Amino acid sequence: MKNTIAIGIQWGDEGKGKIVDLLAPDVDVVARFQGGPNAGHTLVIGDQKTVLNHIPSGILHDNTLCLIGNGTVVDPFRLVEEMDMLLAAGIPVSERLKISERCQLILPYHRALDAAREVAKGKNKIGTTGKGIGPCYEDKTARRGIRLVDLVSDDLDARIDANLEYVNFMMTSYLNAAPVERADVERALDLARERLLPLAADVPLILQRRIKAGDSVLYEGAQGSMLDVDHGTYPFVTSSNTVAGAALAGLGVGPKQVDEVLGICKAYTTRVGAGPFPTELYNAEGMCDAEQAGKHMAEKGHEFGSTTGRPRRTGWFDAVVVQHAVRINGVTGLAITKLDVLDGLAEVKLCVAYELDGERIESVPACCKRLEAVTPVYETLPGWNESTFGATALDQLPANAQALLRRIEEVCDCPVTMLSTGPDRKHIIHL
Ligand code: IMP
Repeated sequence: MKNTIAIGIQWGDEGKGKIVDLLAPDVDVVARFQGGPNAGHTLVIGDQKTVLNHIPSGILHDNTLCLIGNGTVVDPFRLVEEMDMLLAAGIPVSERLKISERCQLILPYHRALDAAREVAKGKNKIGTTGKGIGPCYEDKTARRGIRLVDLVSDDLDARIDANLEYVNFMMTSYLNAAPVERADVERALDLARERLLPLAADVPLILQRRIKAGDSVLYEGAQGSMLDVDHGTYPFVTSSNTVAGAALAGLGVGPKQVDEVLGICKAYTTRVGAGPFPTELYNAEGMCDAEQAGKHMAEKGHEFGSTTGRPRRTGWFDAVVVQHAVRINGVTGLAITKLDVLDGLAEVKLCVAYELDGERIESVPACCKRLEAVTPVYETLPGWNESTFGATALDQLPANAQALLRRIEEVCDCPVTMLSTGPDRKHIIHL
């Protein structure tokens, strides 16, 4: 297989875990390049379901090396928990996993700040996952973050003192919240020193050697392009770059070490957390169209967050969003997931443009307020009653489902190269 970046191109939860899991046996290395425990994918080991937040799903395959790159943020408590779950299932994690020594650590004060800030924002909250992602990336950029390699640095104590002084001033004097105990921070640091430091490695060096030796790499993204801190629905975004370009900086590889960019999206759209969502039909507060299609998507698609359990907001496929993502990521092929969720709908809609202030626009406005004000322009296609669940070849799909795919390709100006028709690895069509 070629060196491929696999990324979500909507608002996250596009089914990346399944696609990566499917591709992982054919690659030698799977590497994460951004995000942290805000991501989550469910793995089934035997009859046990396991949710992984940091570790790439390639970890289940004997000969796959898994890498966590410098662009990610790592919570020692959670990562060690993941490692222990896998160890208990007989997976030799330590032999298969390396963590960049340049990774930023999420410490208890990051989670505390994340939670306190959301409370302080009240109805304007972002709806973060509460995992400390924003404050950790903030510290990185402000040059006060603690990296894995810093655990053996002789100025660590002084840096923690300085950070805690700042954080606890913010917590008590500004956010009206309880201060963070130094003992909790020490526990995280001790755990990281004991369990994560032995896995620390020079990830760019490993990648360069592997690629030179002819090995293939799957660069695994987290979240989705619309949650990218630059290109997404700012400020309702995560705090990292989630686009394909982030794979290079987040691992330390060059553009020539990538051959393909696989853009993963659902046959409809979902989002968790706050922020504009032009084609939204249904959410936890109700809100539904005449066809009840949004409710159908939520129920049939089991649309609840794997990390937070929150119900996801659902709506029609937004081709304006996907086109935007195709451009900013240089997507070479689309992987469409959960097509089967649309089975049974009388009609299926595609948003092909927006109307804003009486004008038709075909791109995503940079300003959130303007994006909130758009009206979707829909094309309506006939639905199908037949089941597409588990289909493994294009000709097993009803003609109307095939027509929808062709129209998505045309409007998004990108070929569909994979189509997922169910949760199992064999529920896939390669095109
Ligand atoms: P944070 O990444 O926890 O700071 O959350 C910021 C925004 O990104 C919130 O709207 C979250 O719901 C969203 N988000 C973060 N990670 C994911 C994910 O893996 N899937 C879907 N949404 C996510």
